[in-house]
Amino acid sequence: MYDEDLDAAEEQHLRSLTAAEAEGDERAVEAALRPRTLDEVVGQSRVREQLGLVLEAARQRGRAPDHVLLSGPPGLGKTTLAMIIAHEMATPLRLTSGPAITHAGDLAAILSGMNDGDVLFVDEIHRMSRPAEEMLYMAMEDFRVDVVIGKGPGATAIPLEIPPFTLVGATTRAGLLPGPLRDRFGFTGHLEFYEPHELDLIVHRSSGLLGVELTSDGAAEIASRSRGTPRIANRLLRRVRDYAQVRADGVVTLGVARSALDLYEVDELGLDRLDRAVIDVLCRRFGGGPVGVSTLAVAVGEERETVEEVAEPFLVRNGFLARTPRGRVATAAAWLHLGLTPPASTAPQAVEEALFEE
Ligand SMILES: Nc1ncnc2c1ncn2[C@@H]1O[C@H](COP(=O)(O)OP(=O)(O)OP(=O)(O)O)[C@@H](O)[C@H]1O
Ligand SMILES: [Mg+2]
Repeated sequence: MYDEDLDAAEEQHLRSLTAAEAEGDERAVEAALRPRTLDEVVGQSRVREQLGLVLEAARQRGRAPDHVLLSGPPGLGKTTLAMIIAHEMATPLRLTSGPAITHAGDLAAILSGMNDGDVLFVDEIHRMSRPAEEMLYMAMEDFRVDVVIGKGPGATAIPLEIPPFTLVGATTRAGLLPGPLRDRFGFTGHLEFYEPHELDLIVHRSSGLLGVELTSDGAAEIASRSRGTPRIANRLLRRVRDYAQVRADGVVTLGVARSALDLYEVDELGLDRLDRAVIDVLCRRFGGGPVGVSTLAVAVGEERETVEEVAEPFLVRNGFLARTPRGRVATAAAWLHLGLTPPASTAPQAVEEALFEE
């Protein structure tokens, strides 16, 4: 656990600007930038409308809404939506996370303290322990759990009634949730990456809240380098603001945004140093591949996991790299992005050959 934390911290340090995960002290800043109501949420129009309906119907019936599962990559607004659900229902939000619930007893303690209509937010719900998960099934369906007292043959189960509550689960890995748990959610909202014009609105909104003066082309520049992720857009905005304040007159213009982001090595399409190193090595040193991920990792001087879990998802999603059974292959887009001419045999787009997908 300790080592893992250390590694994670180190990785964050290396990639903090374009990492989709929140850094330690970032959560406080984020709290200030979070939309508070569904109307304030930018983008995600489908999820917003569906969720709006679920909440409105529950309000009309005077009942707690159905359990809600929010899934999608980090930084797209799962926690934000969970808080909005509680806010819209005017009920308190209780917050916990999968890794914090190691024993069923931990969950029983939380559930027994709930009041009628409360919202229980379980972040990273896919990381809950098995026994806790089984207790949660029962609580979600019957608003009742069996608390087991004692061990072995002498153990007894004491039934415990729980007031009707709404569970909001968030996960970046919906595929890891066991079927019975997934089936007990009445509504699942899948969050998608944001379009540049949506990120543009988010950057404008955040700059207003932070008191940063911003031109529209300055905002657009930050939006287009934000990898479809509001968290990254907000983070880049804060770094560009620093630059504007120290090296310019405080206003985020197109020129200021470009110079700042070039300084921080986030390129026009949002690729950072590692992303570029990966496609650079792939094209220049291995002729575009295929090459095994371990070799690729050694060539860029990183751990295999870092290349696989940190750089590749973004590169694959944006069609720069394909994972094939024979190894990693650069697409024409990768060659062109580096200012190189793709060899004639290069596929125009990434063709994902299922084998390496989770
Ligand atoms: N639709 C949105 N409109 C405006 N801002 C947003 C939106 N979605 C997210 N944000 C901003 O992005 C930040 C990150 O969002 P949030 O913490 O909800 O992501 P998450 O999906 O819970 O990420 P993680 O998987 O890491 O927990 C928030 O501080 C919020 O300001
Ligand atoms: Mg979250």
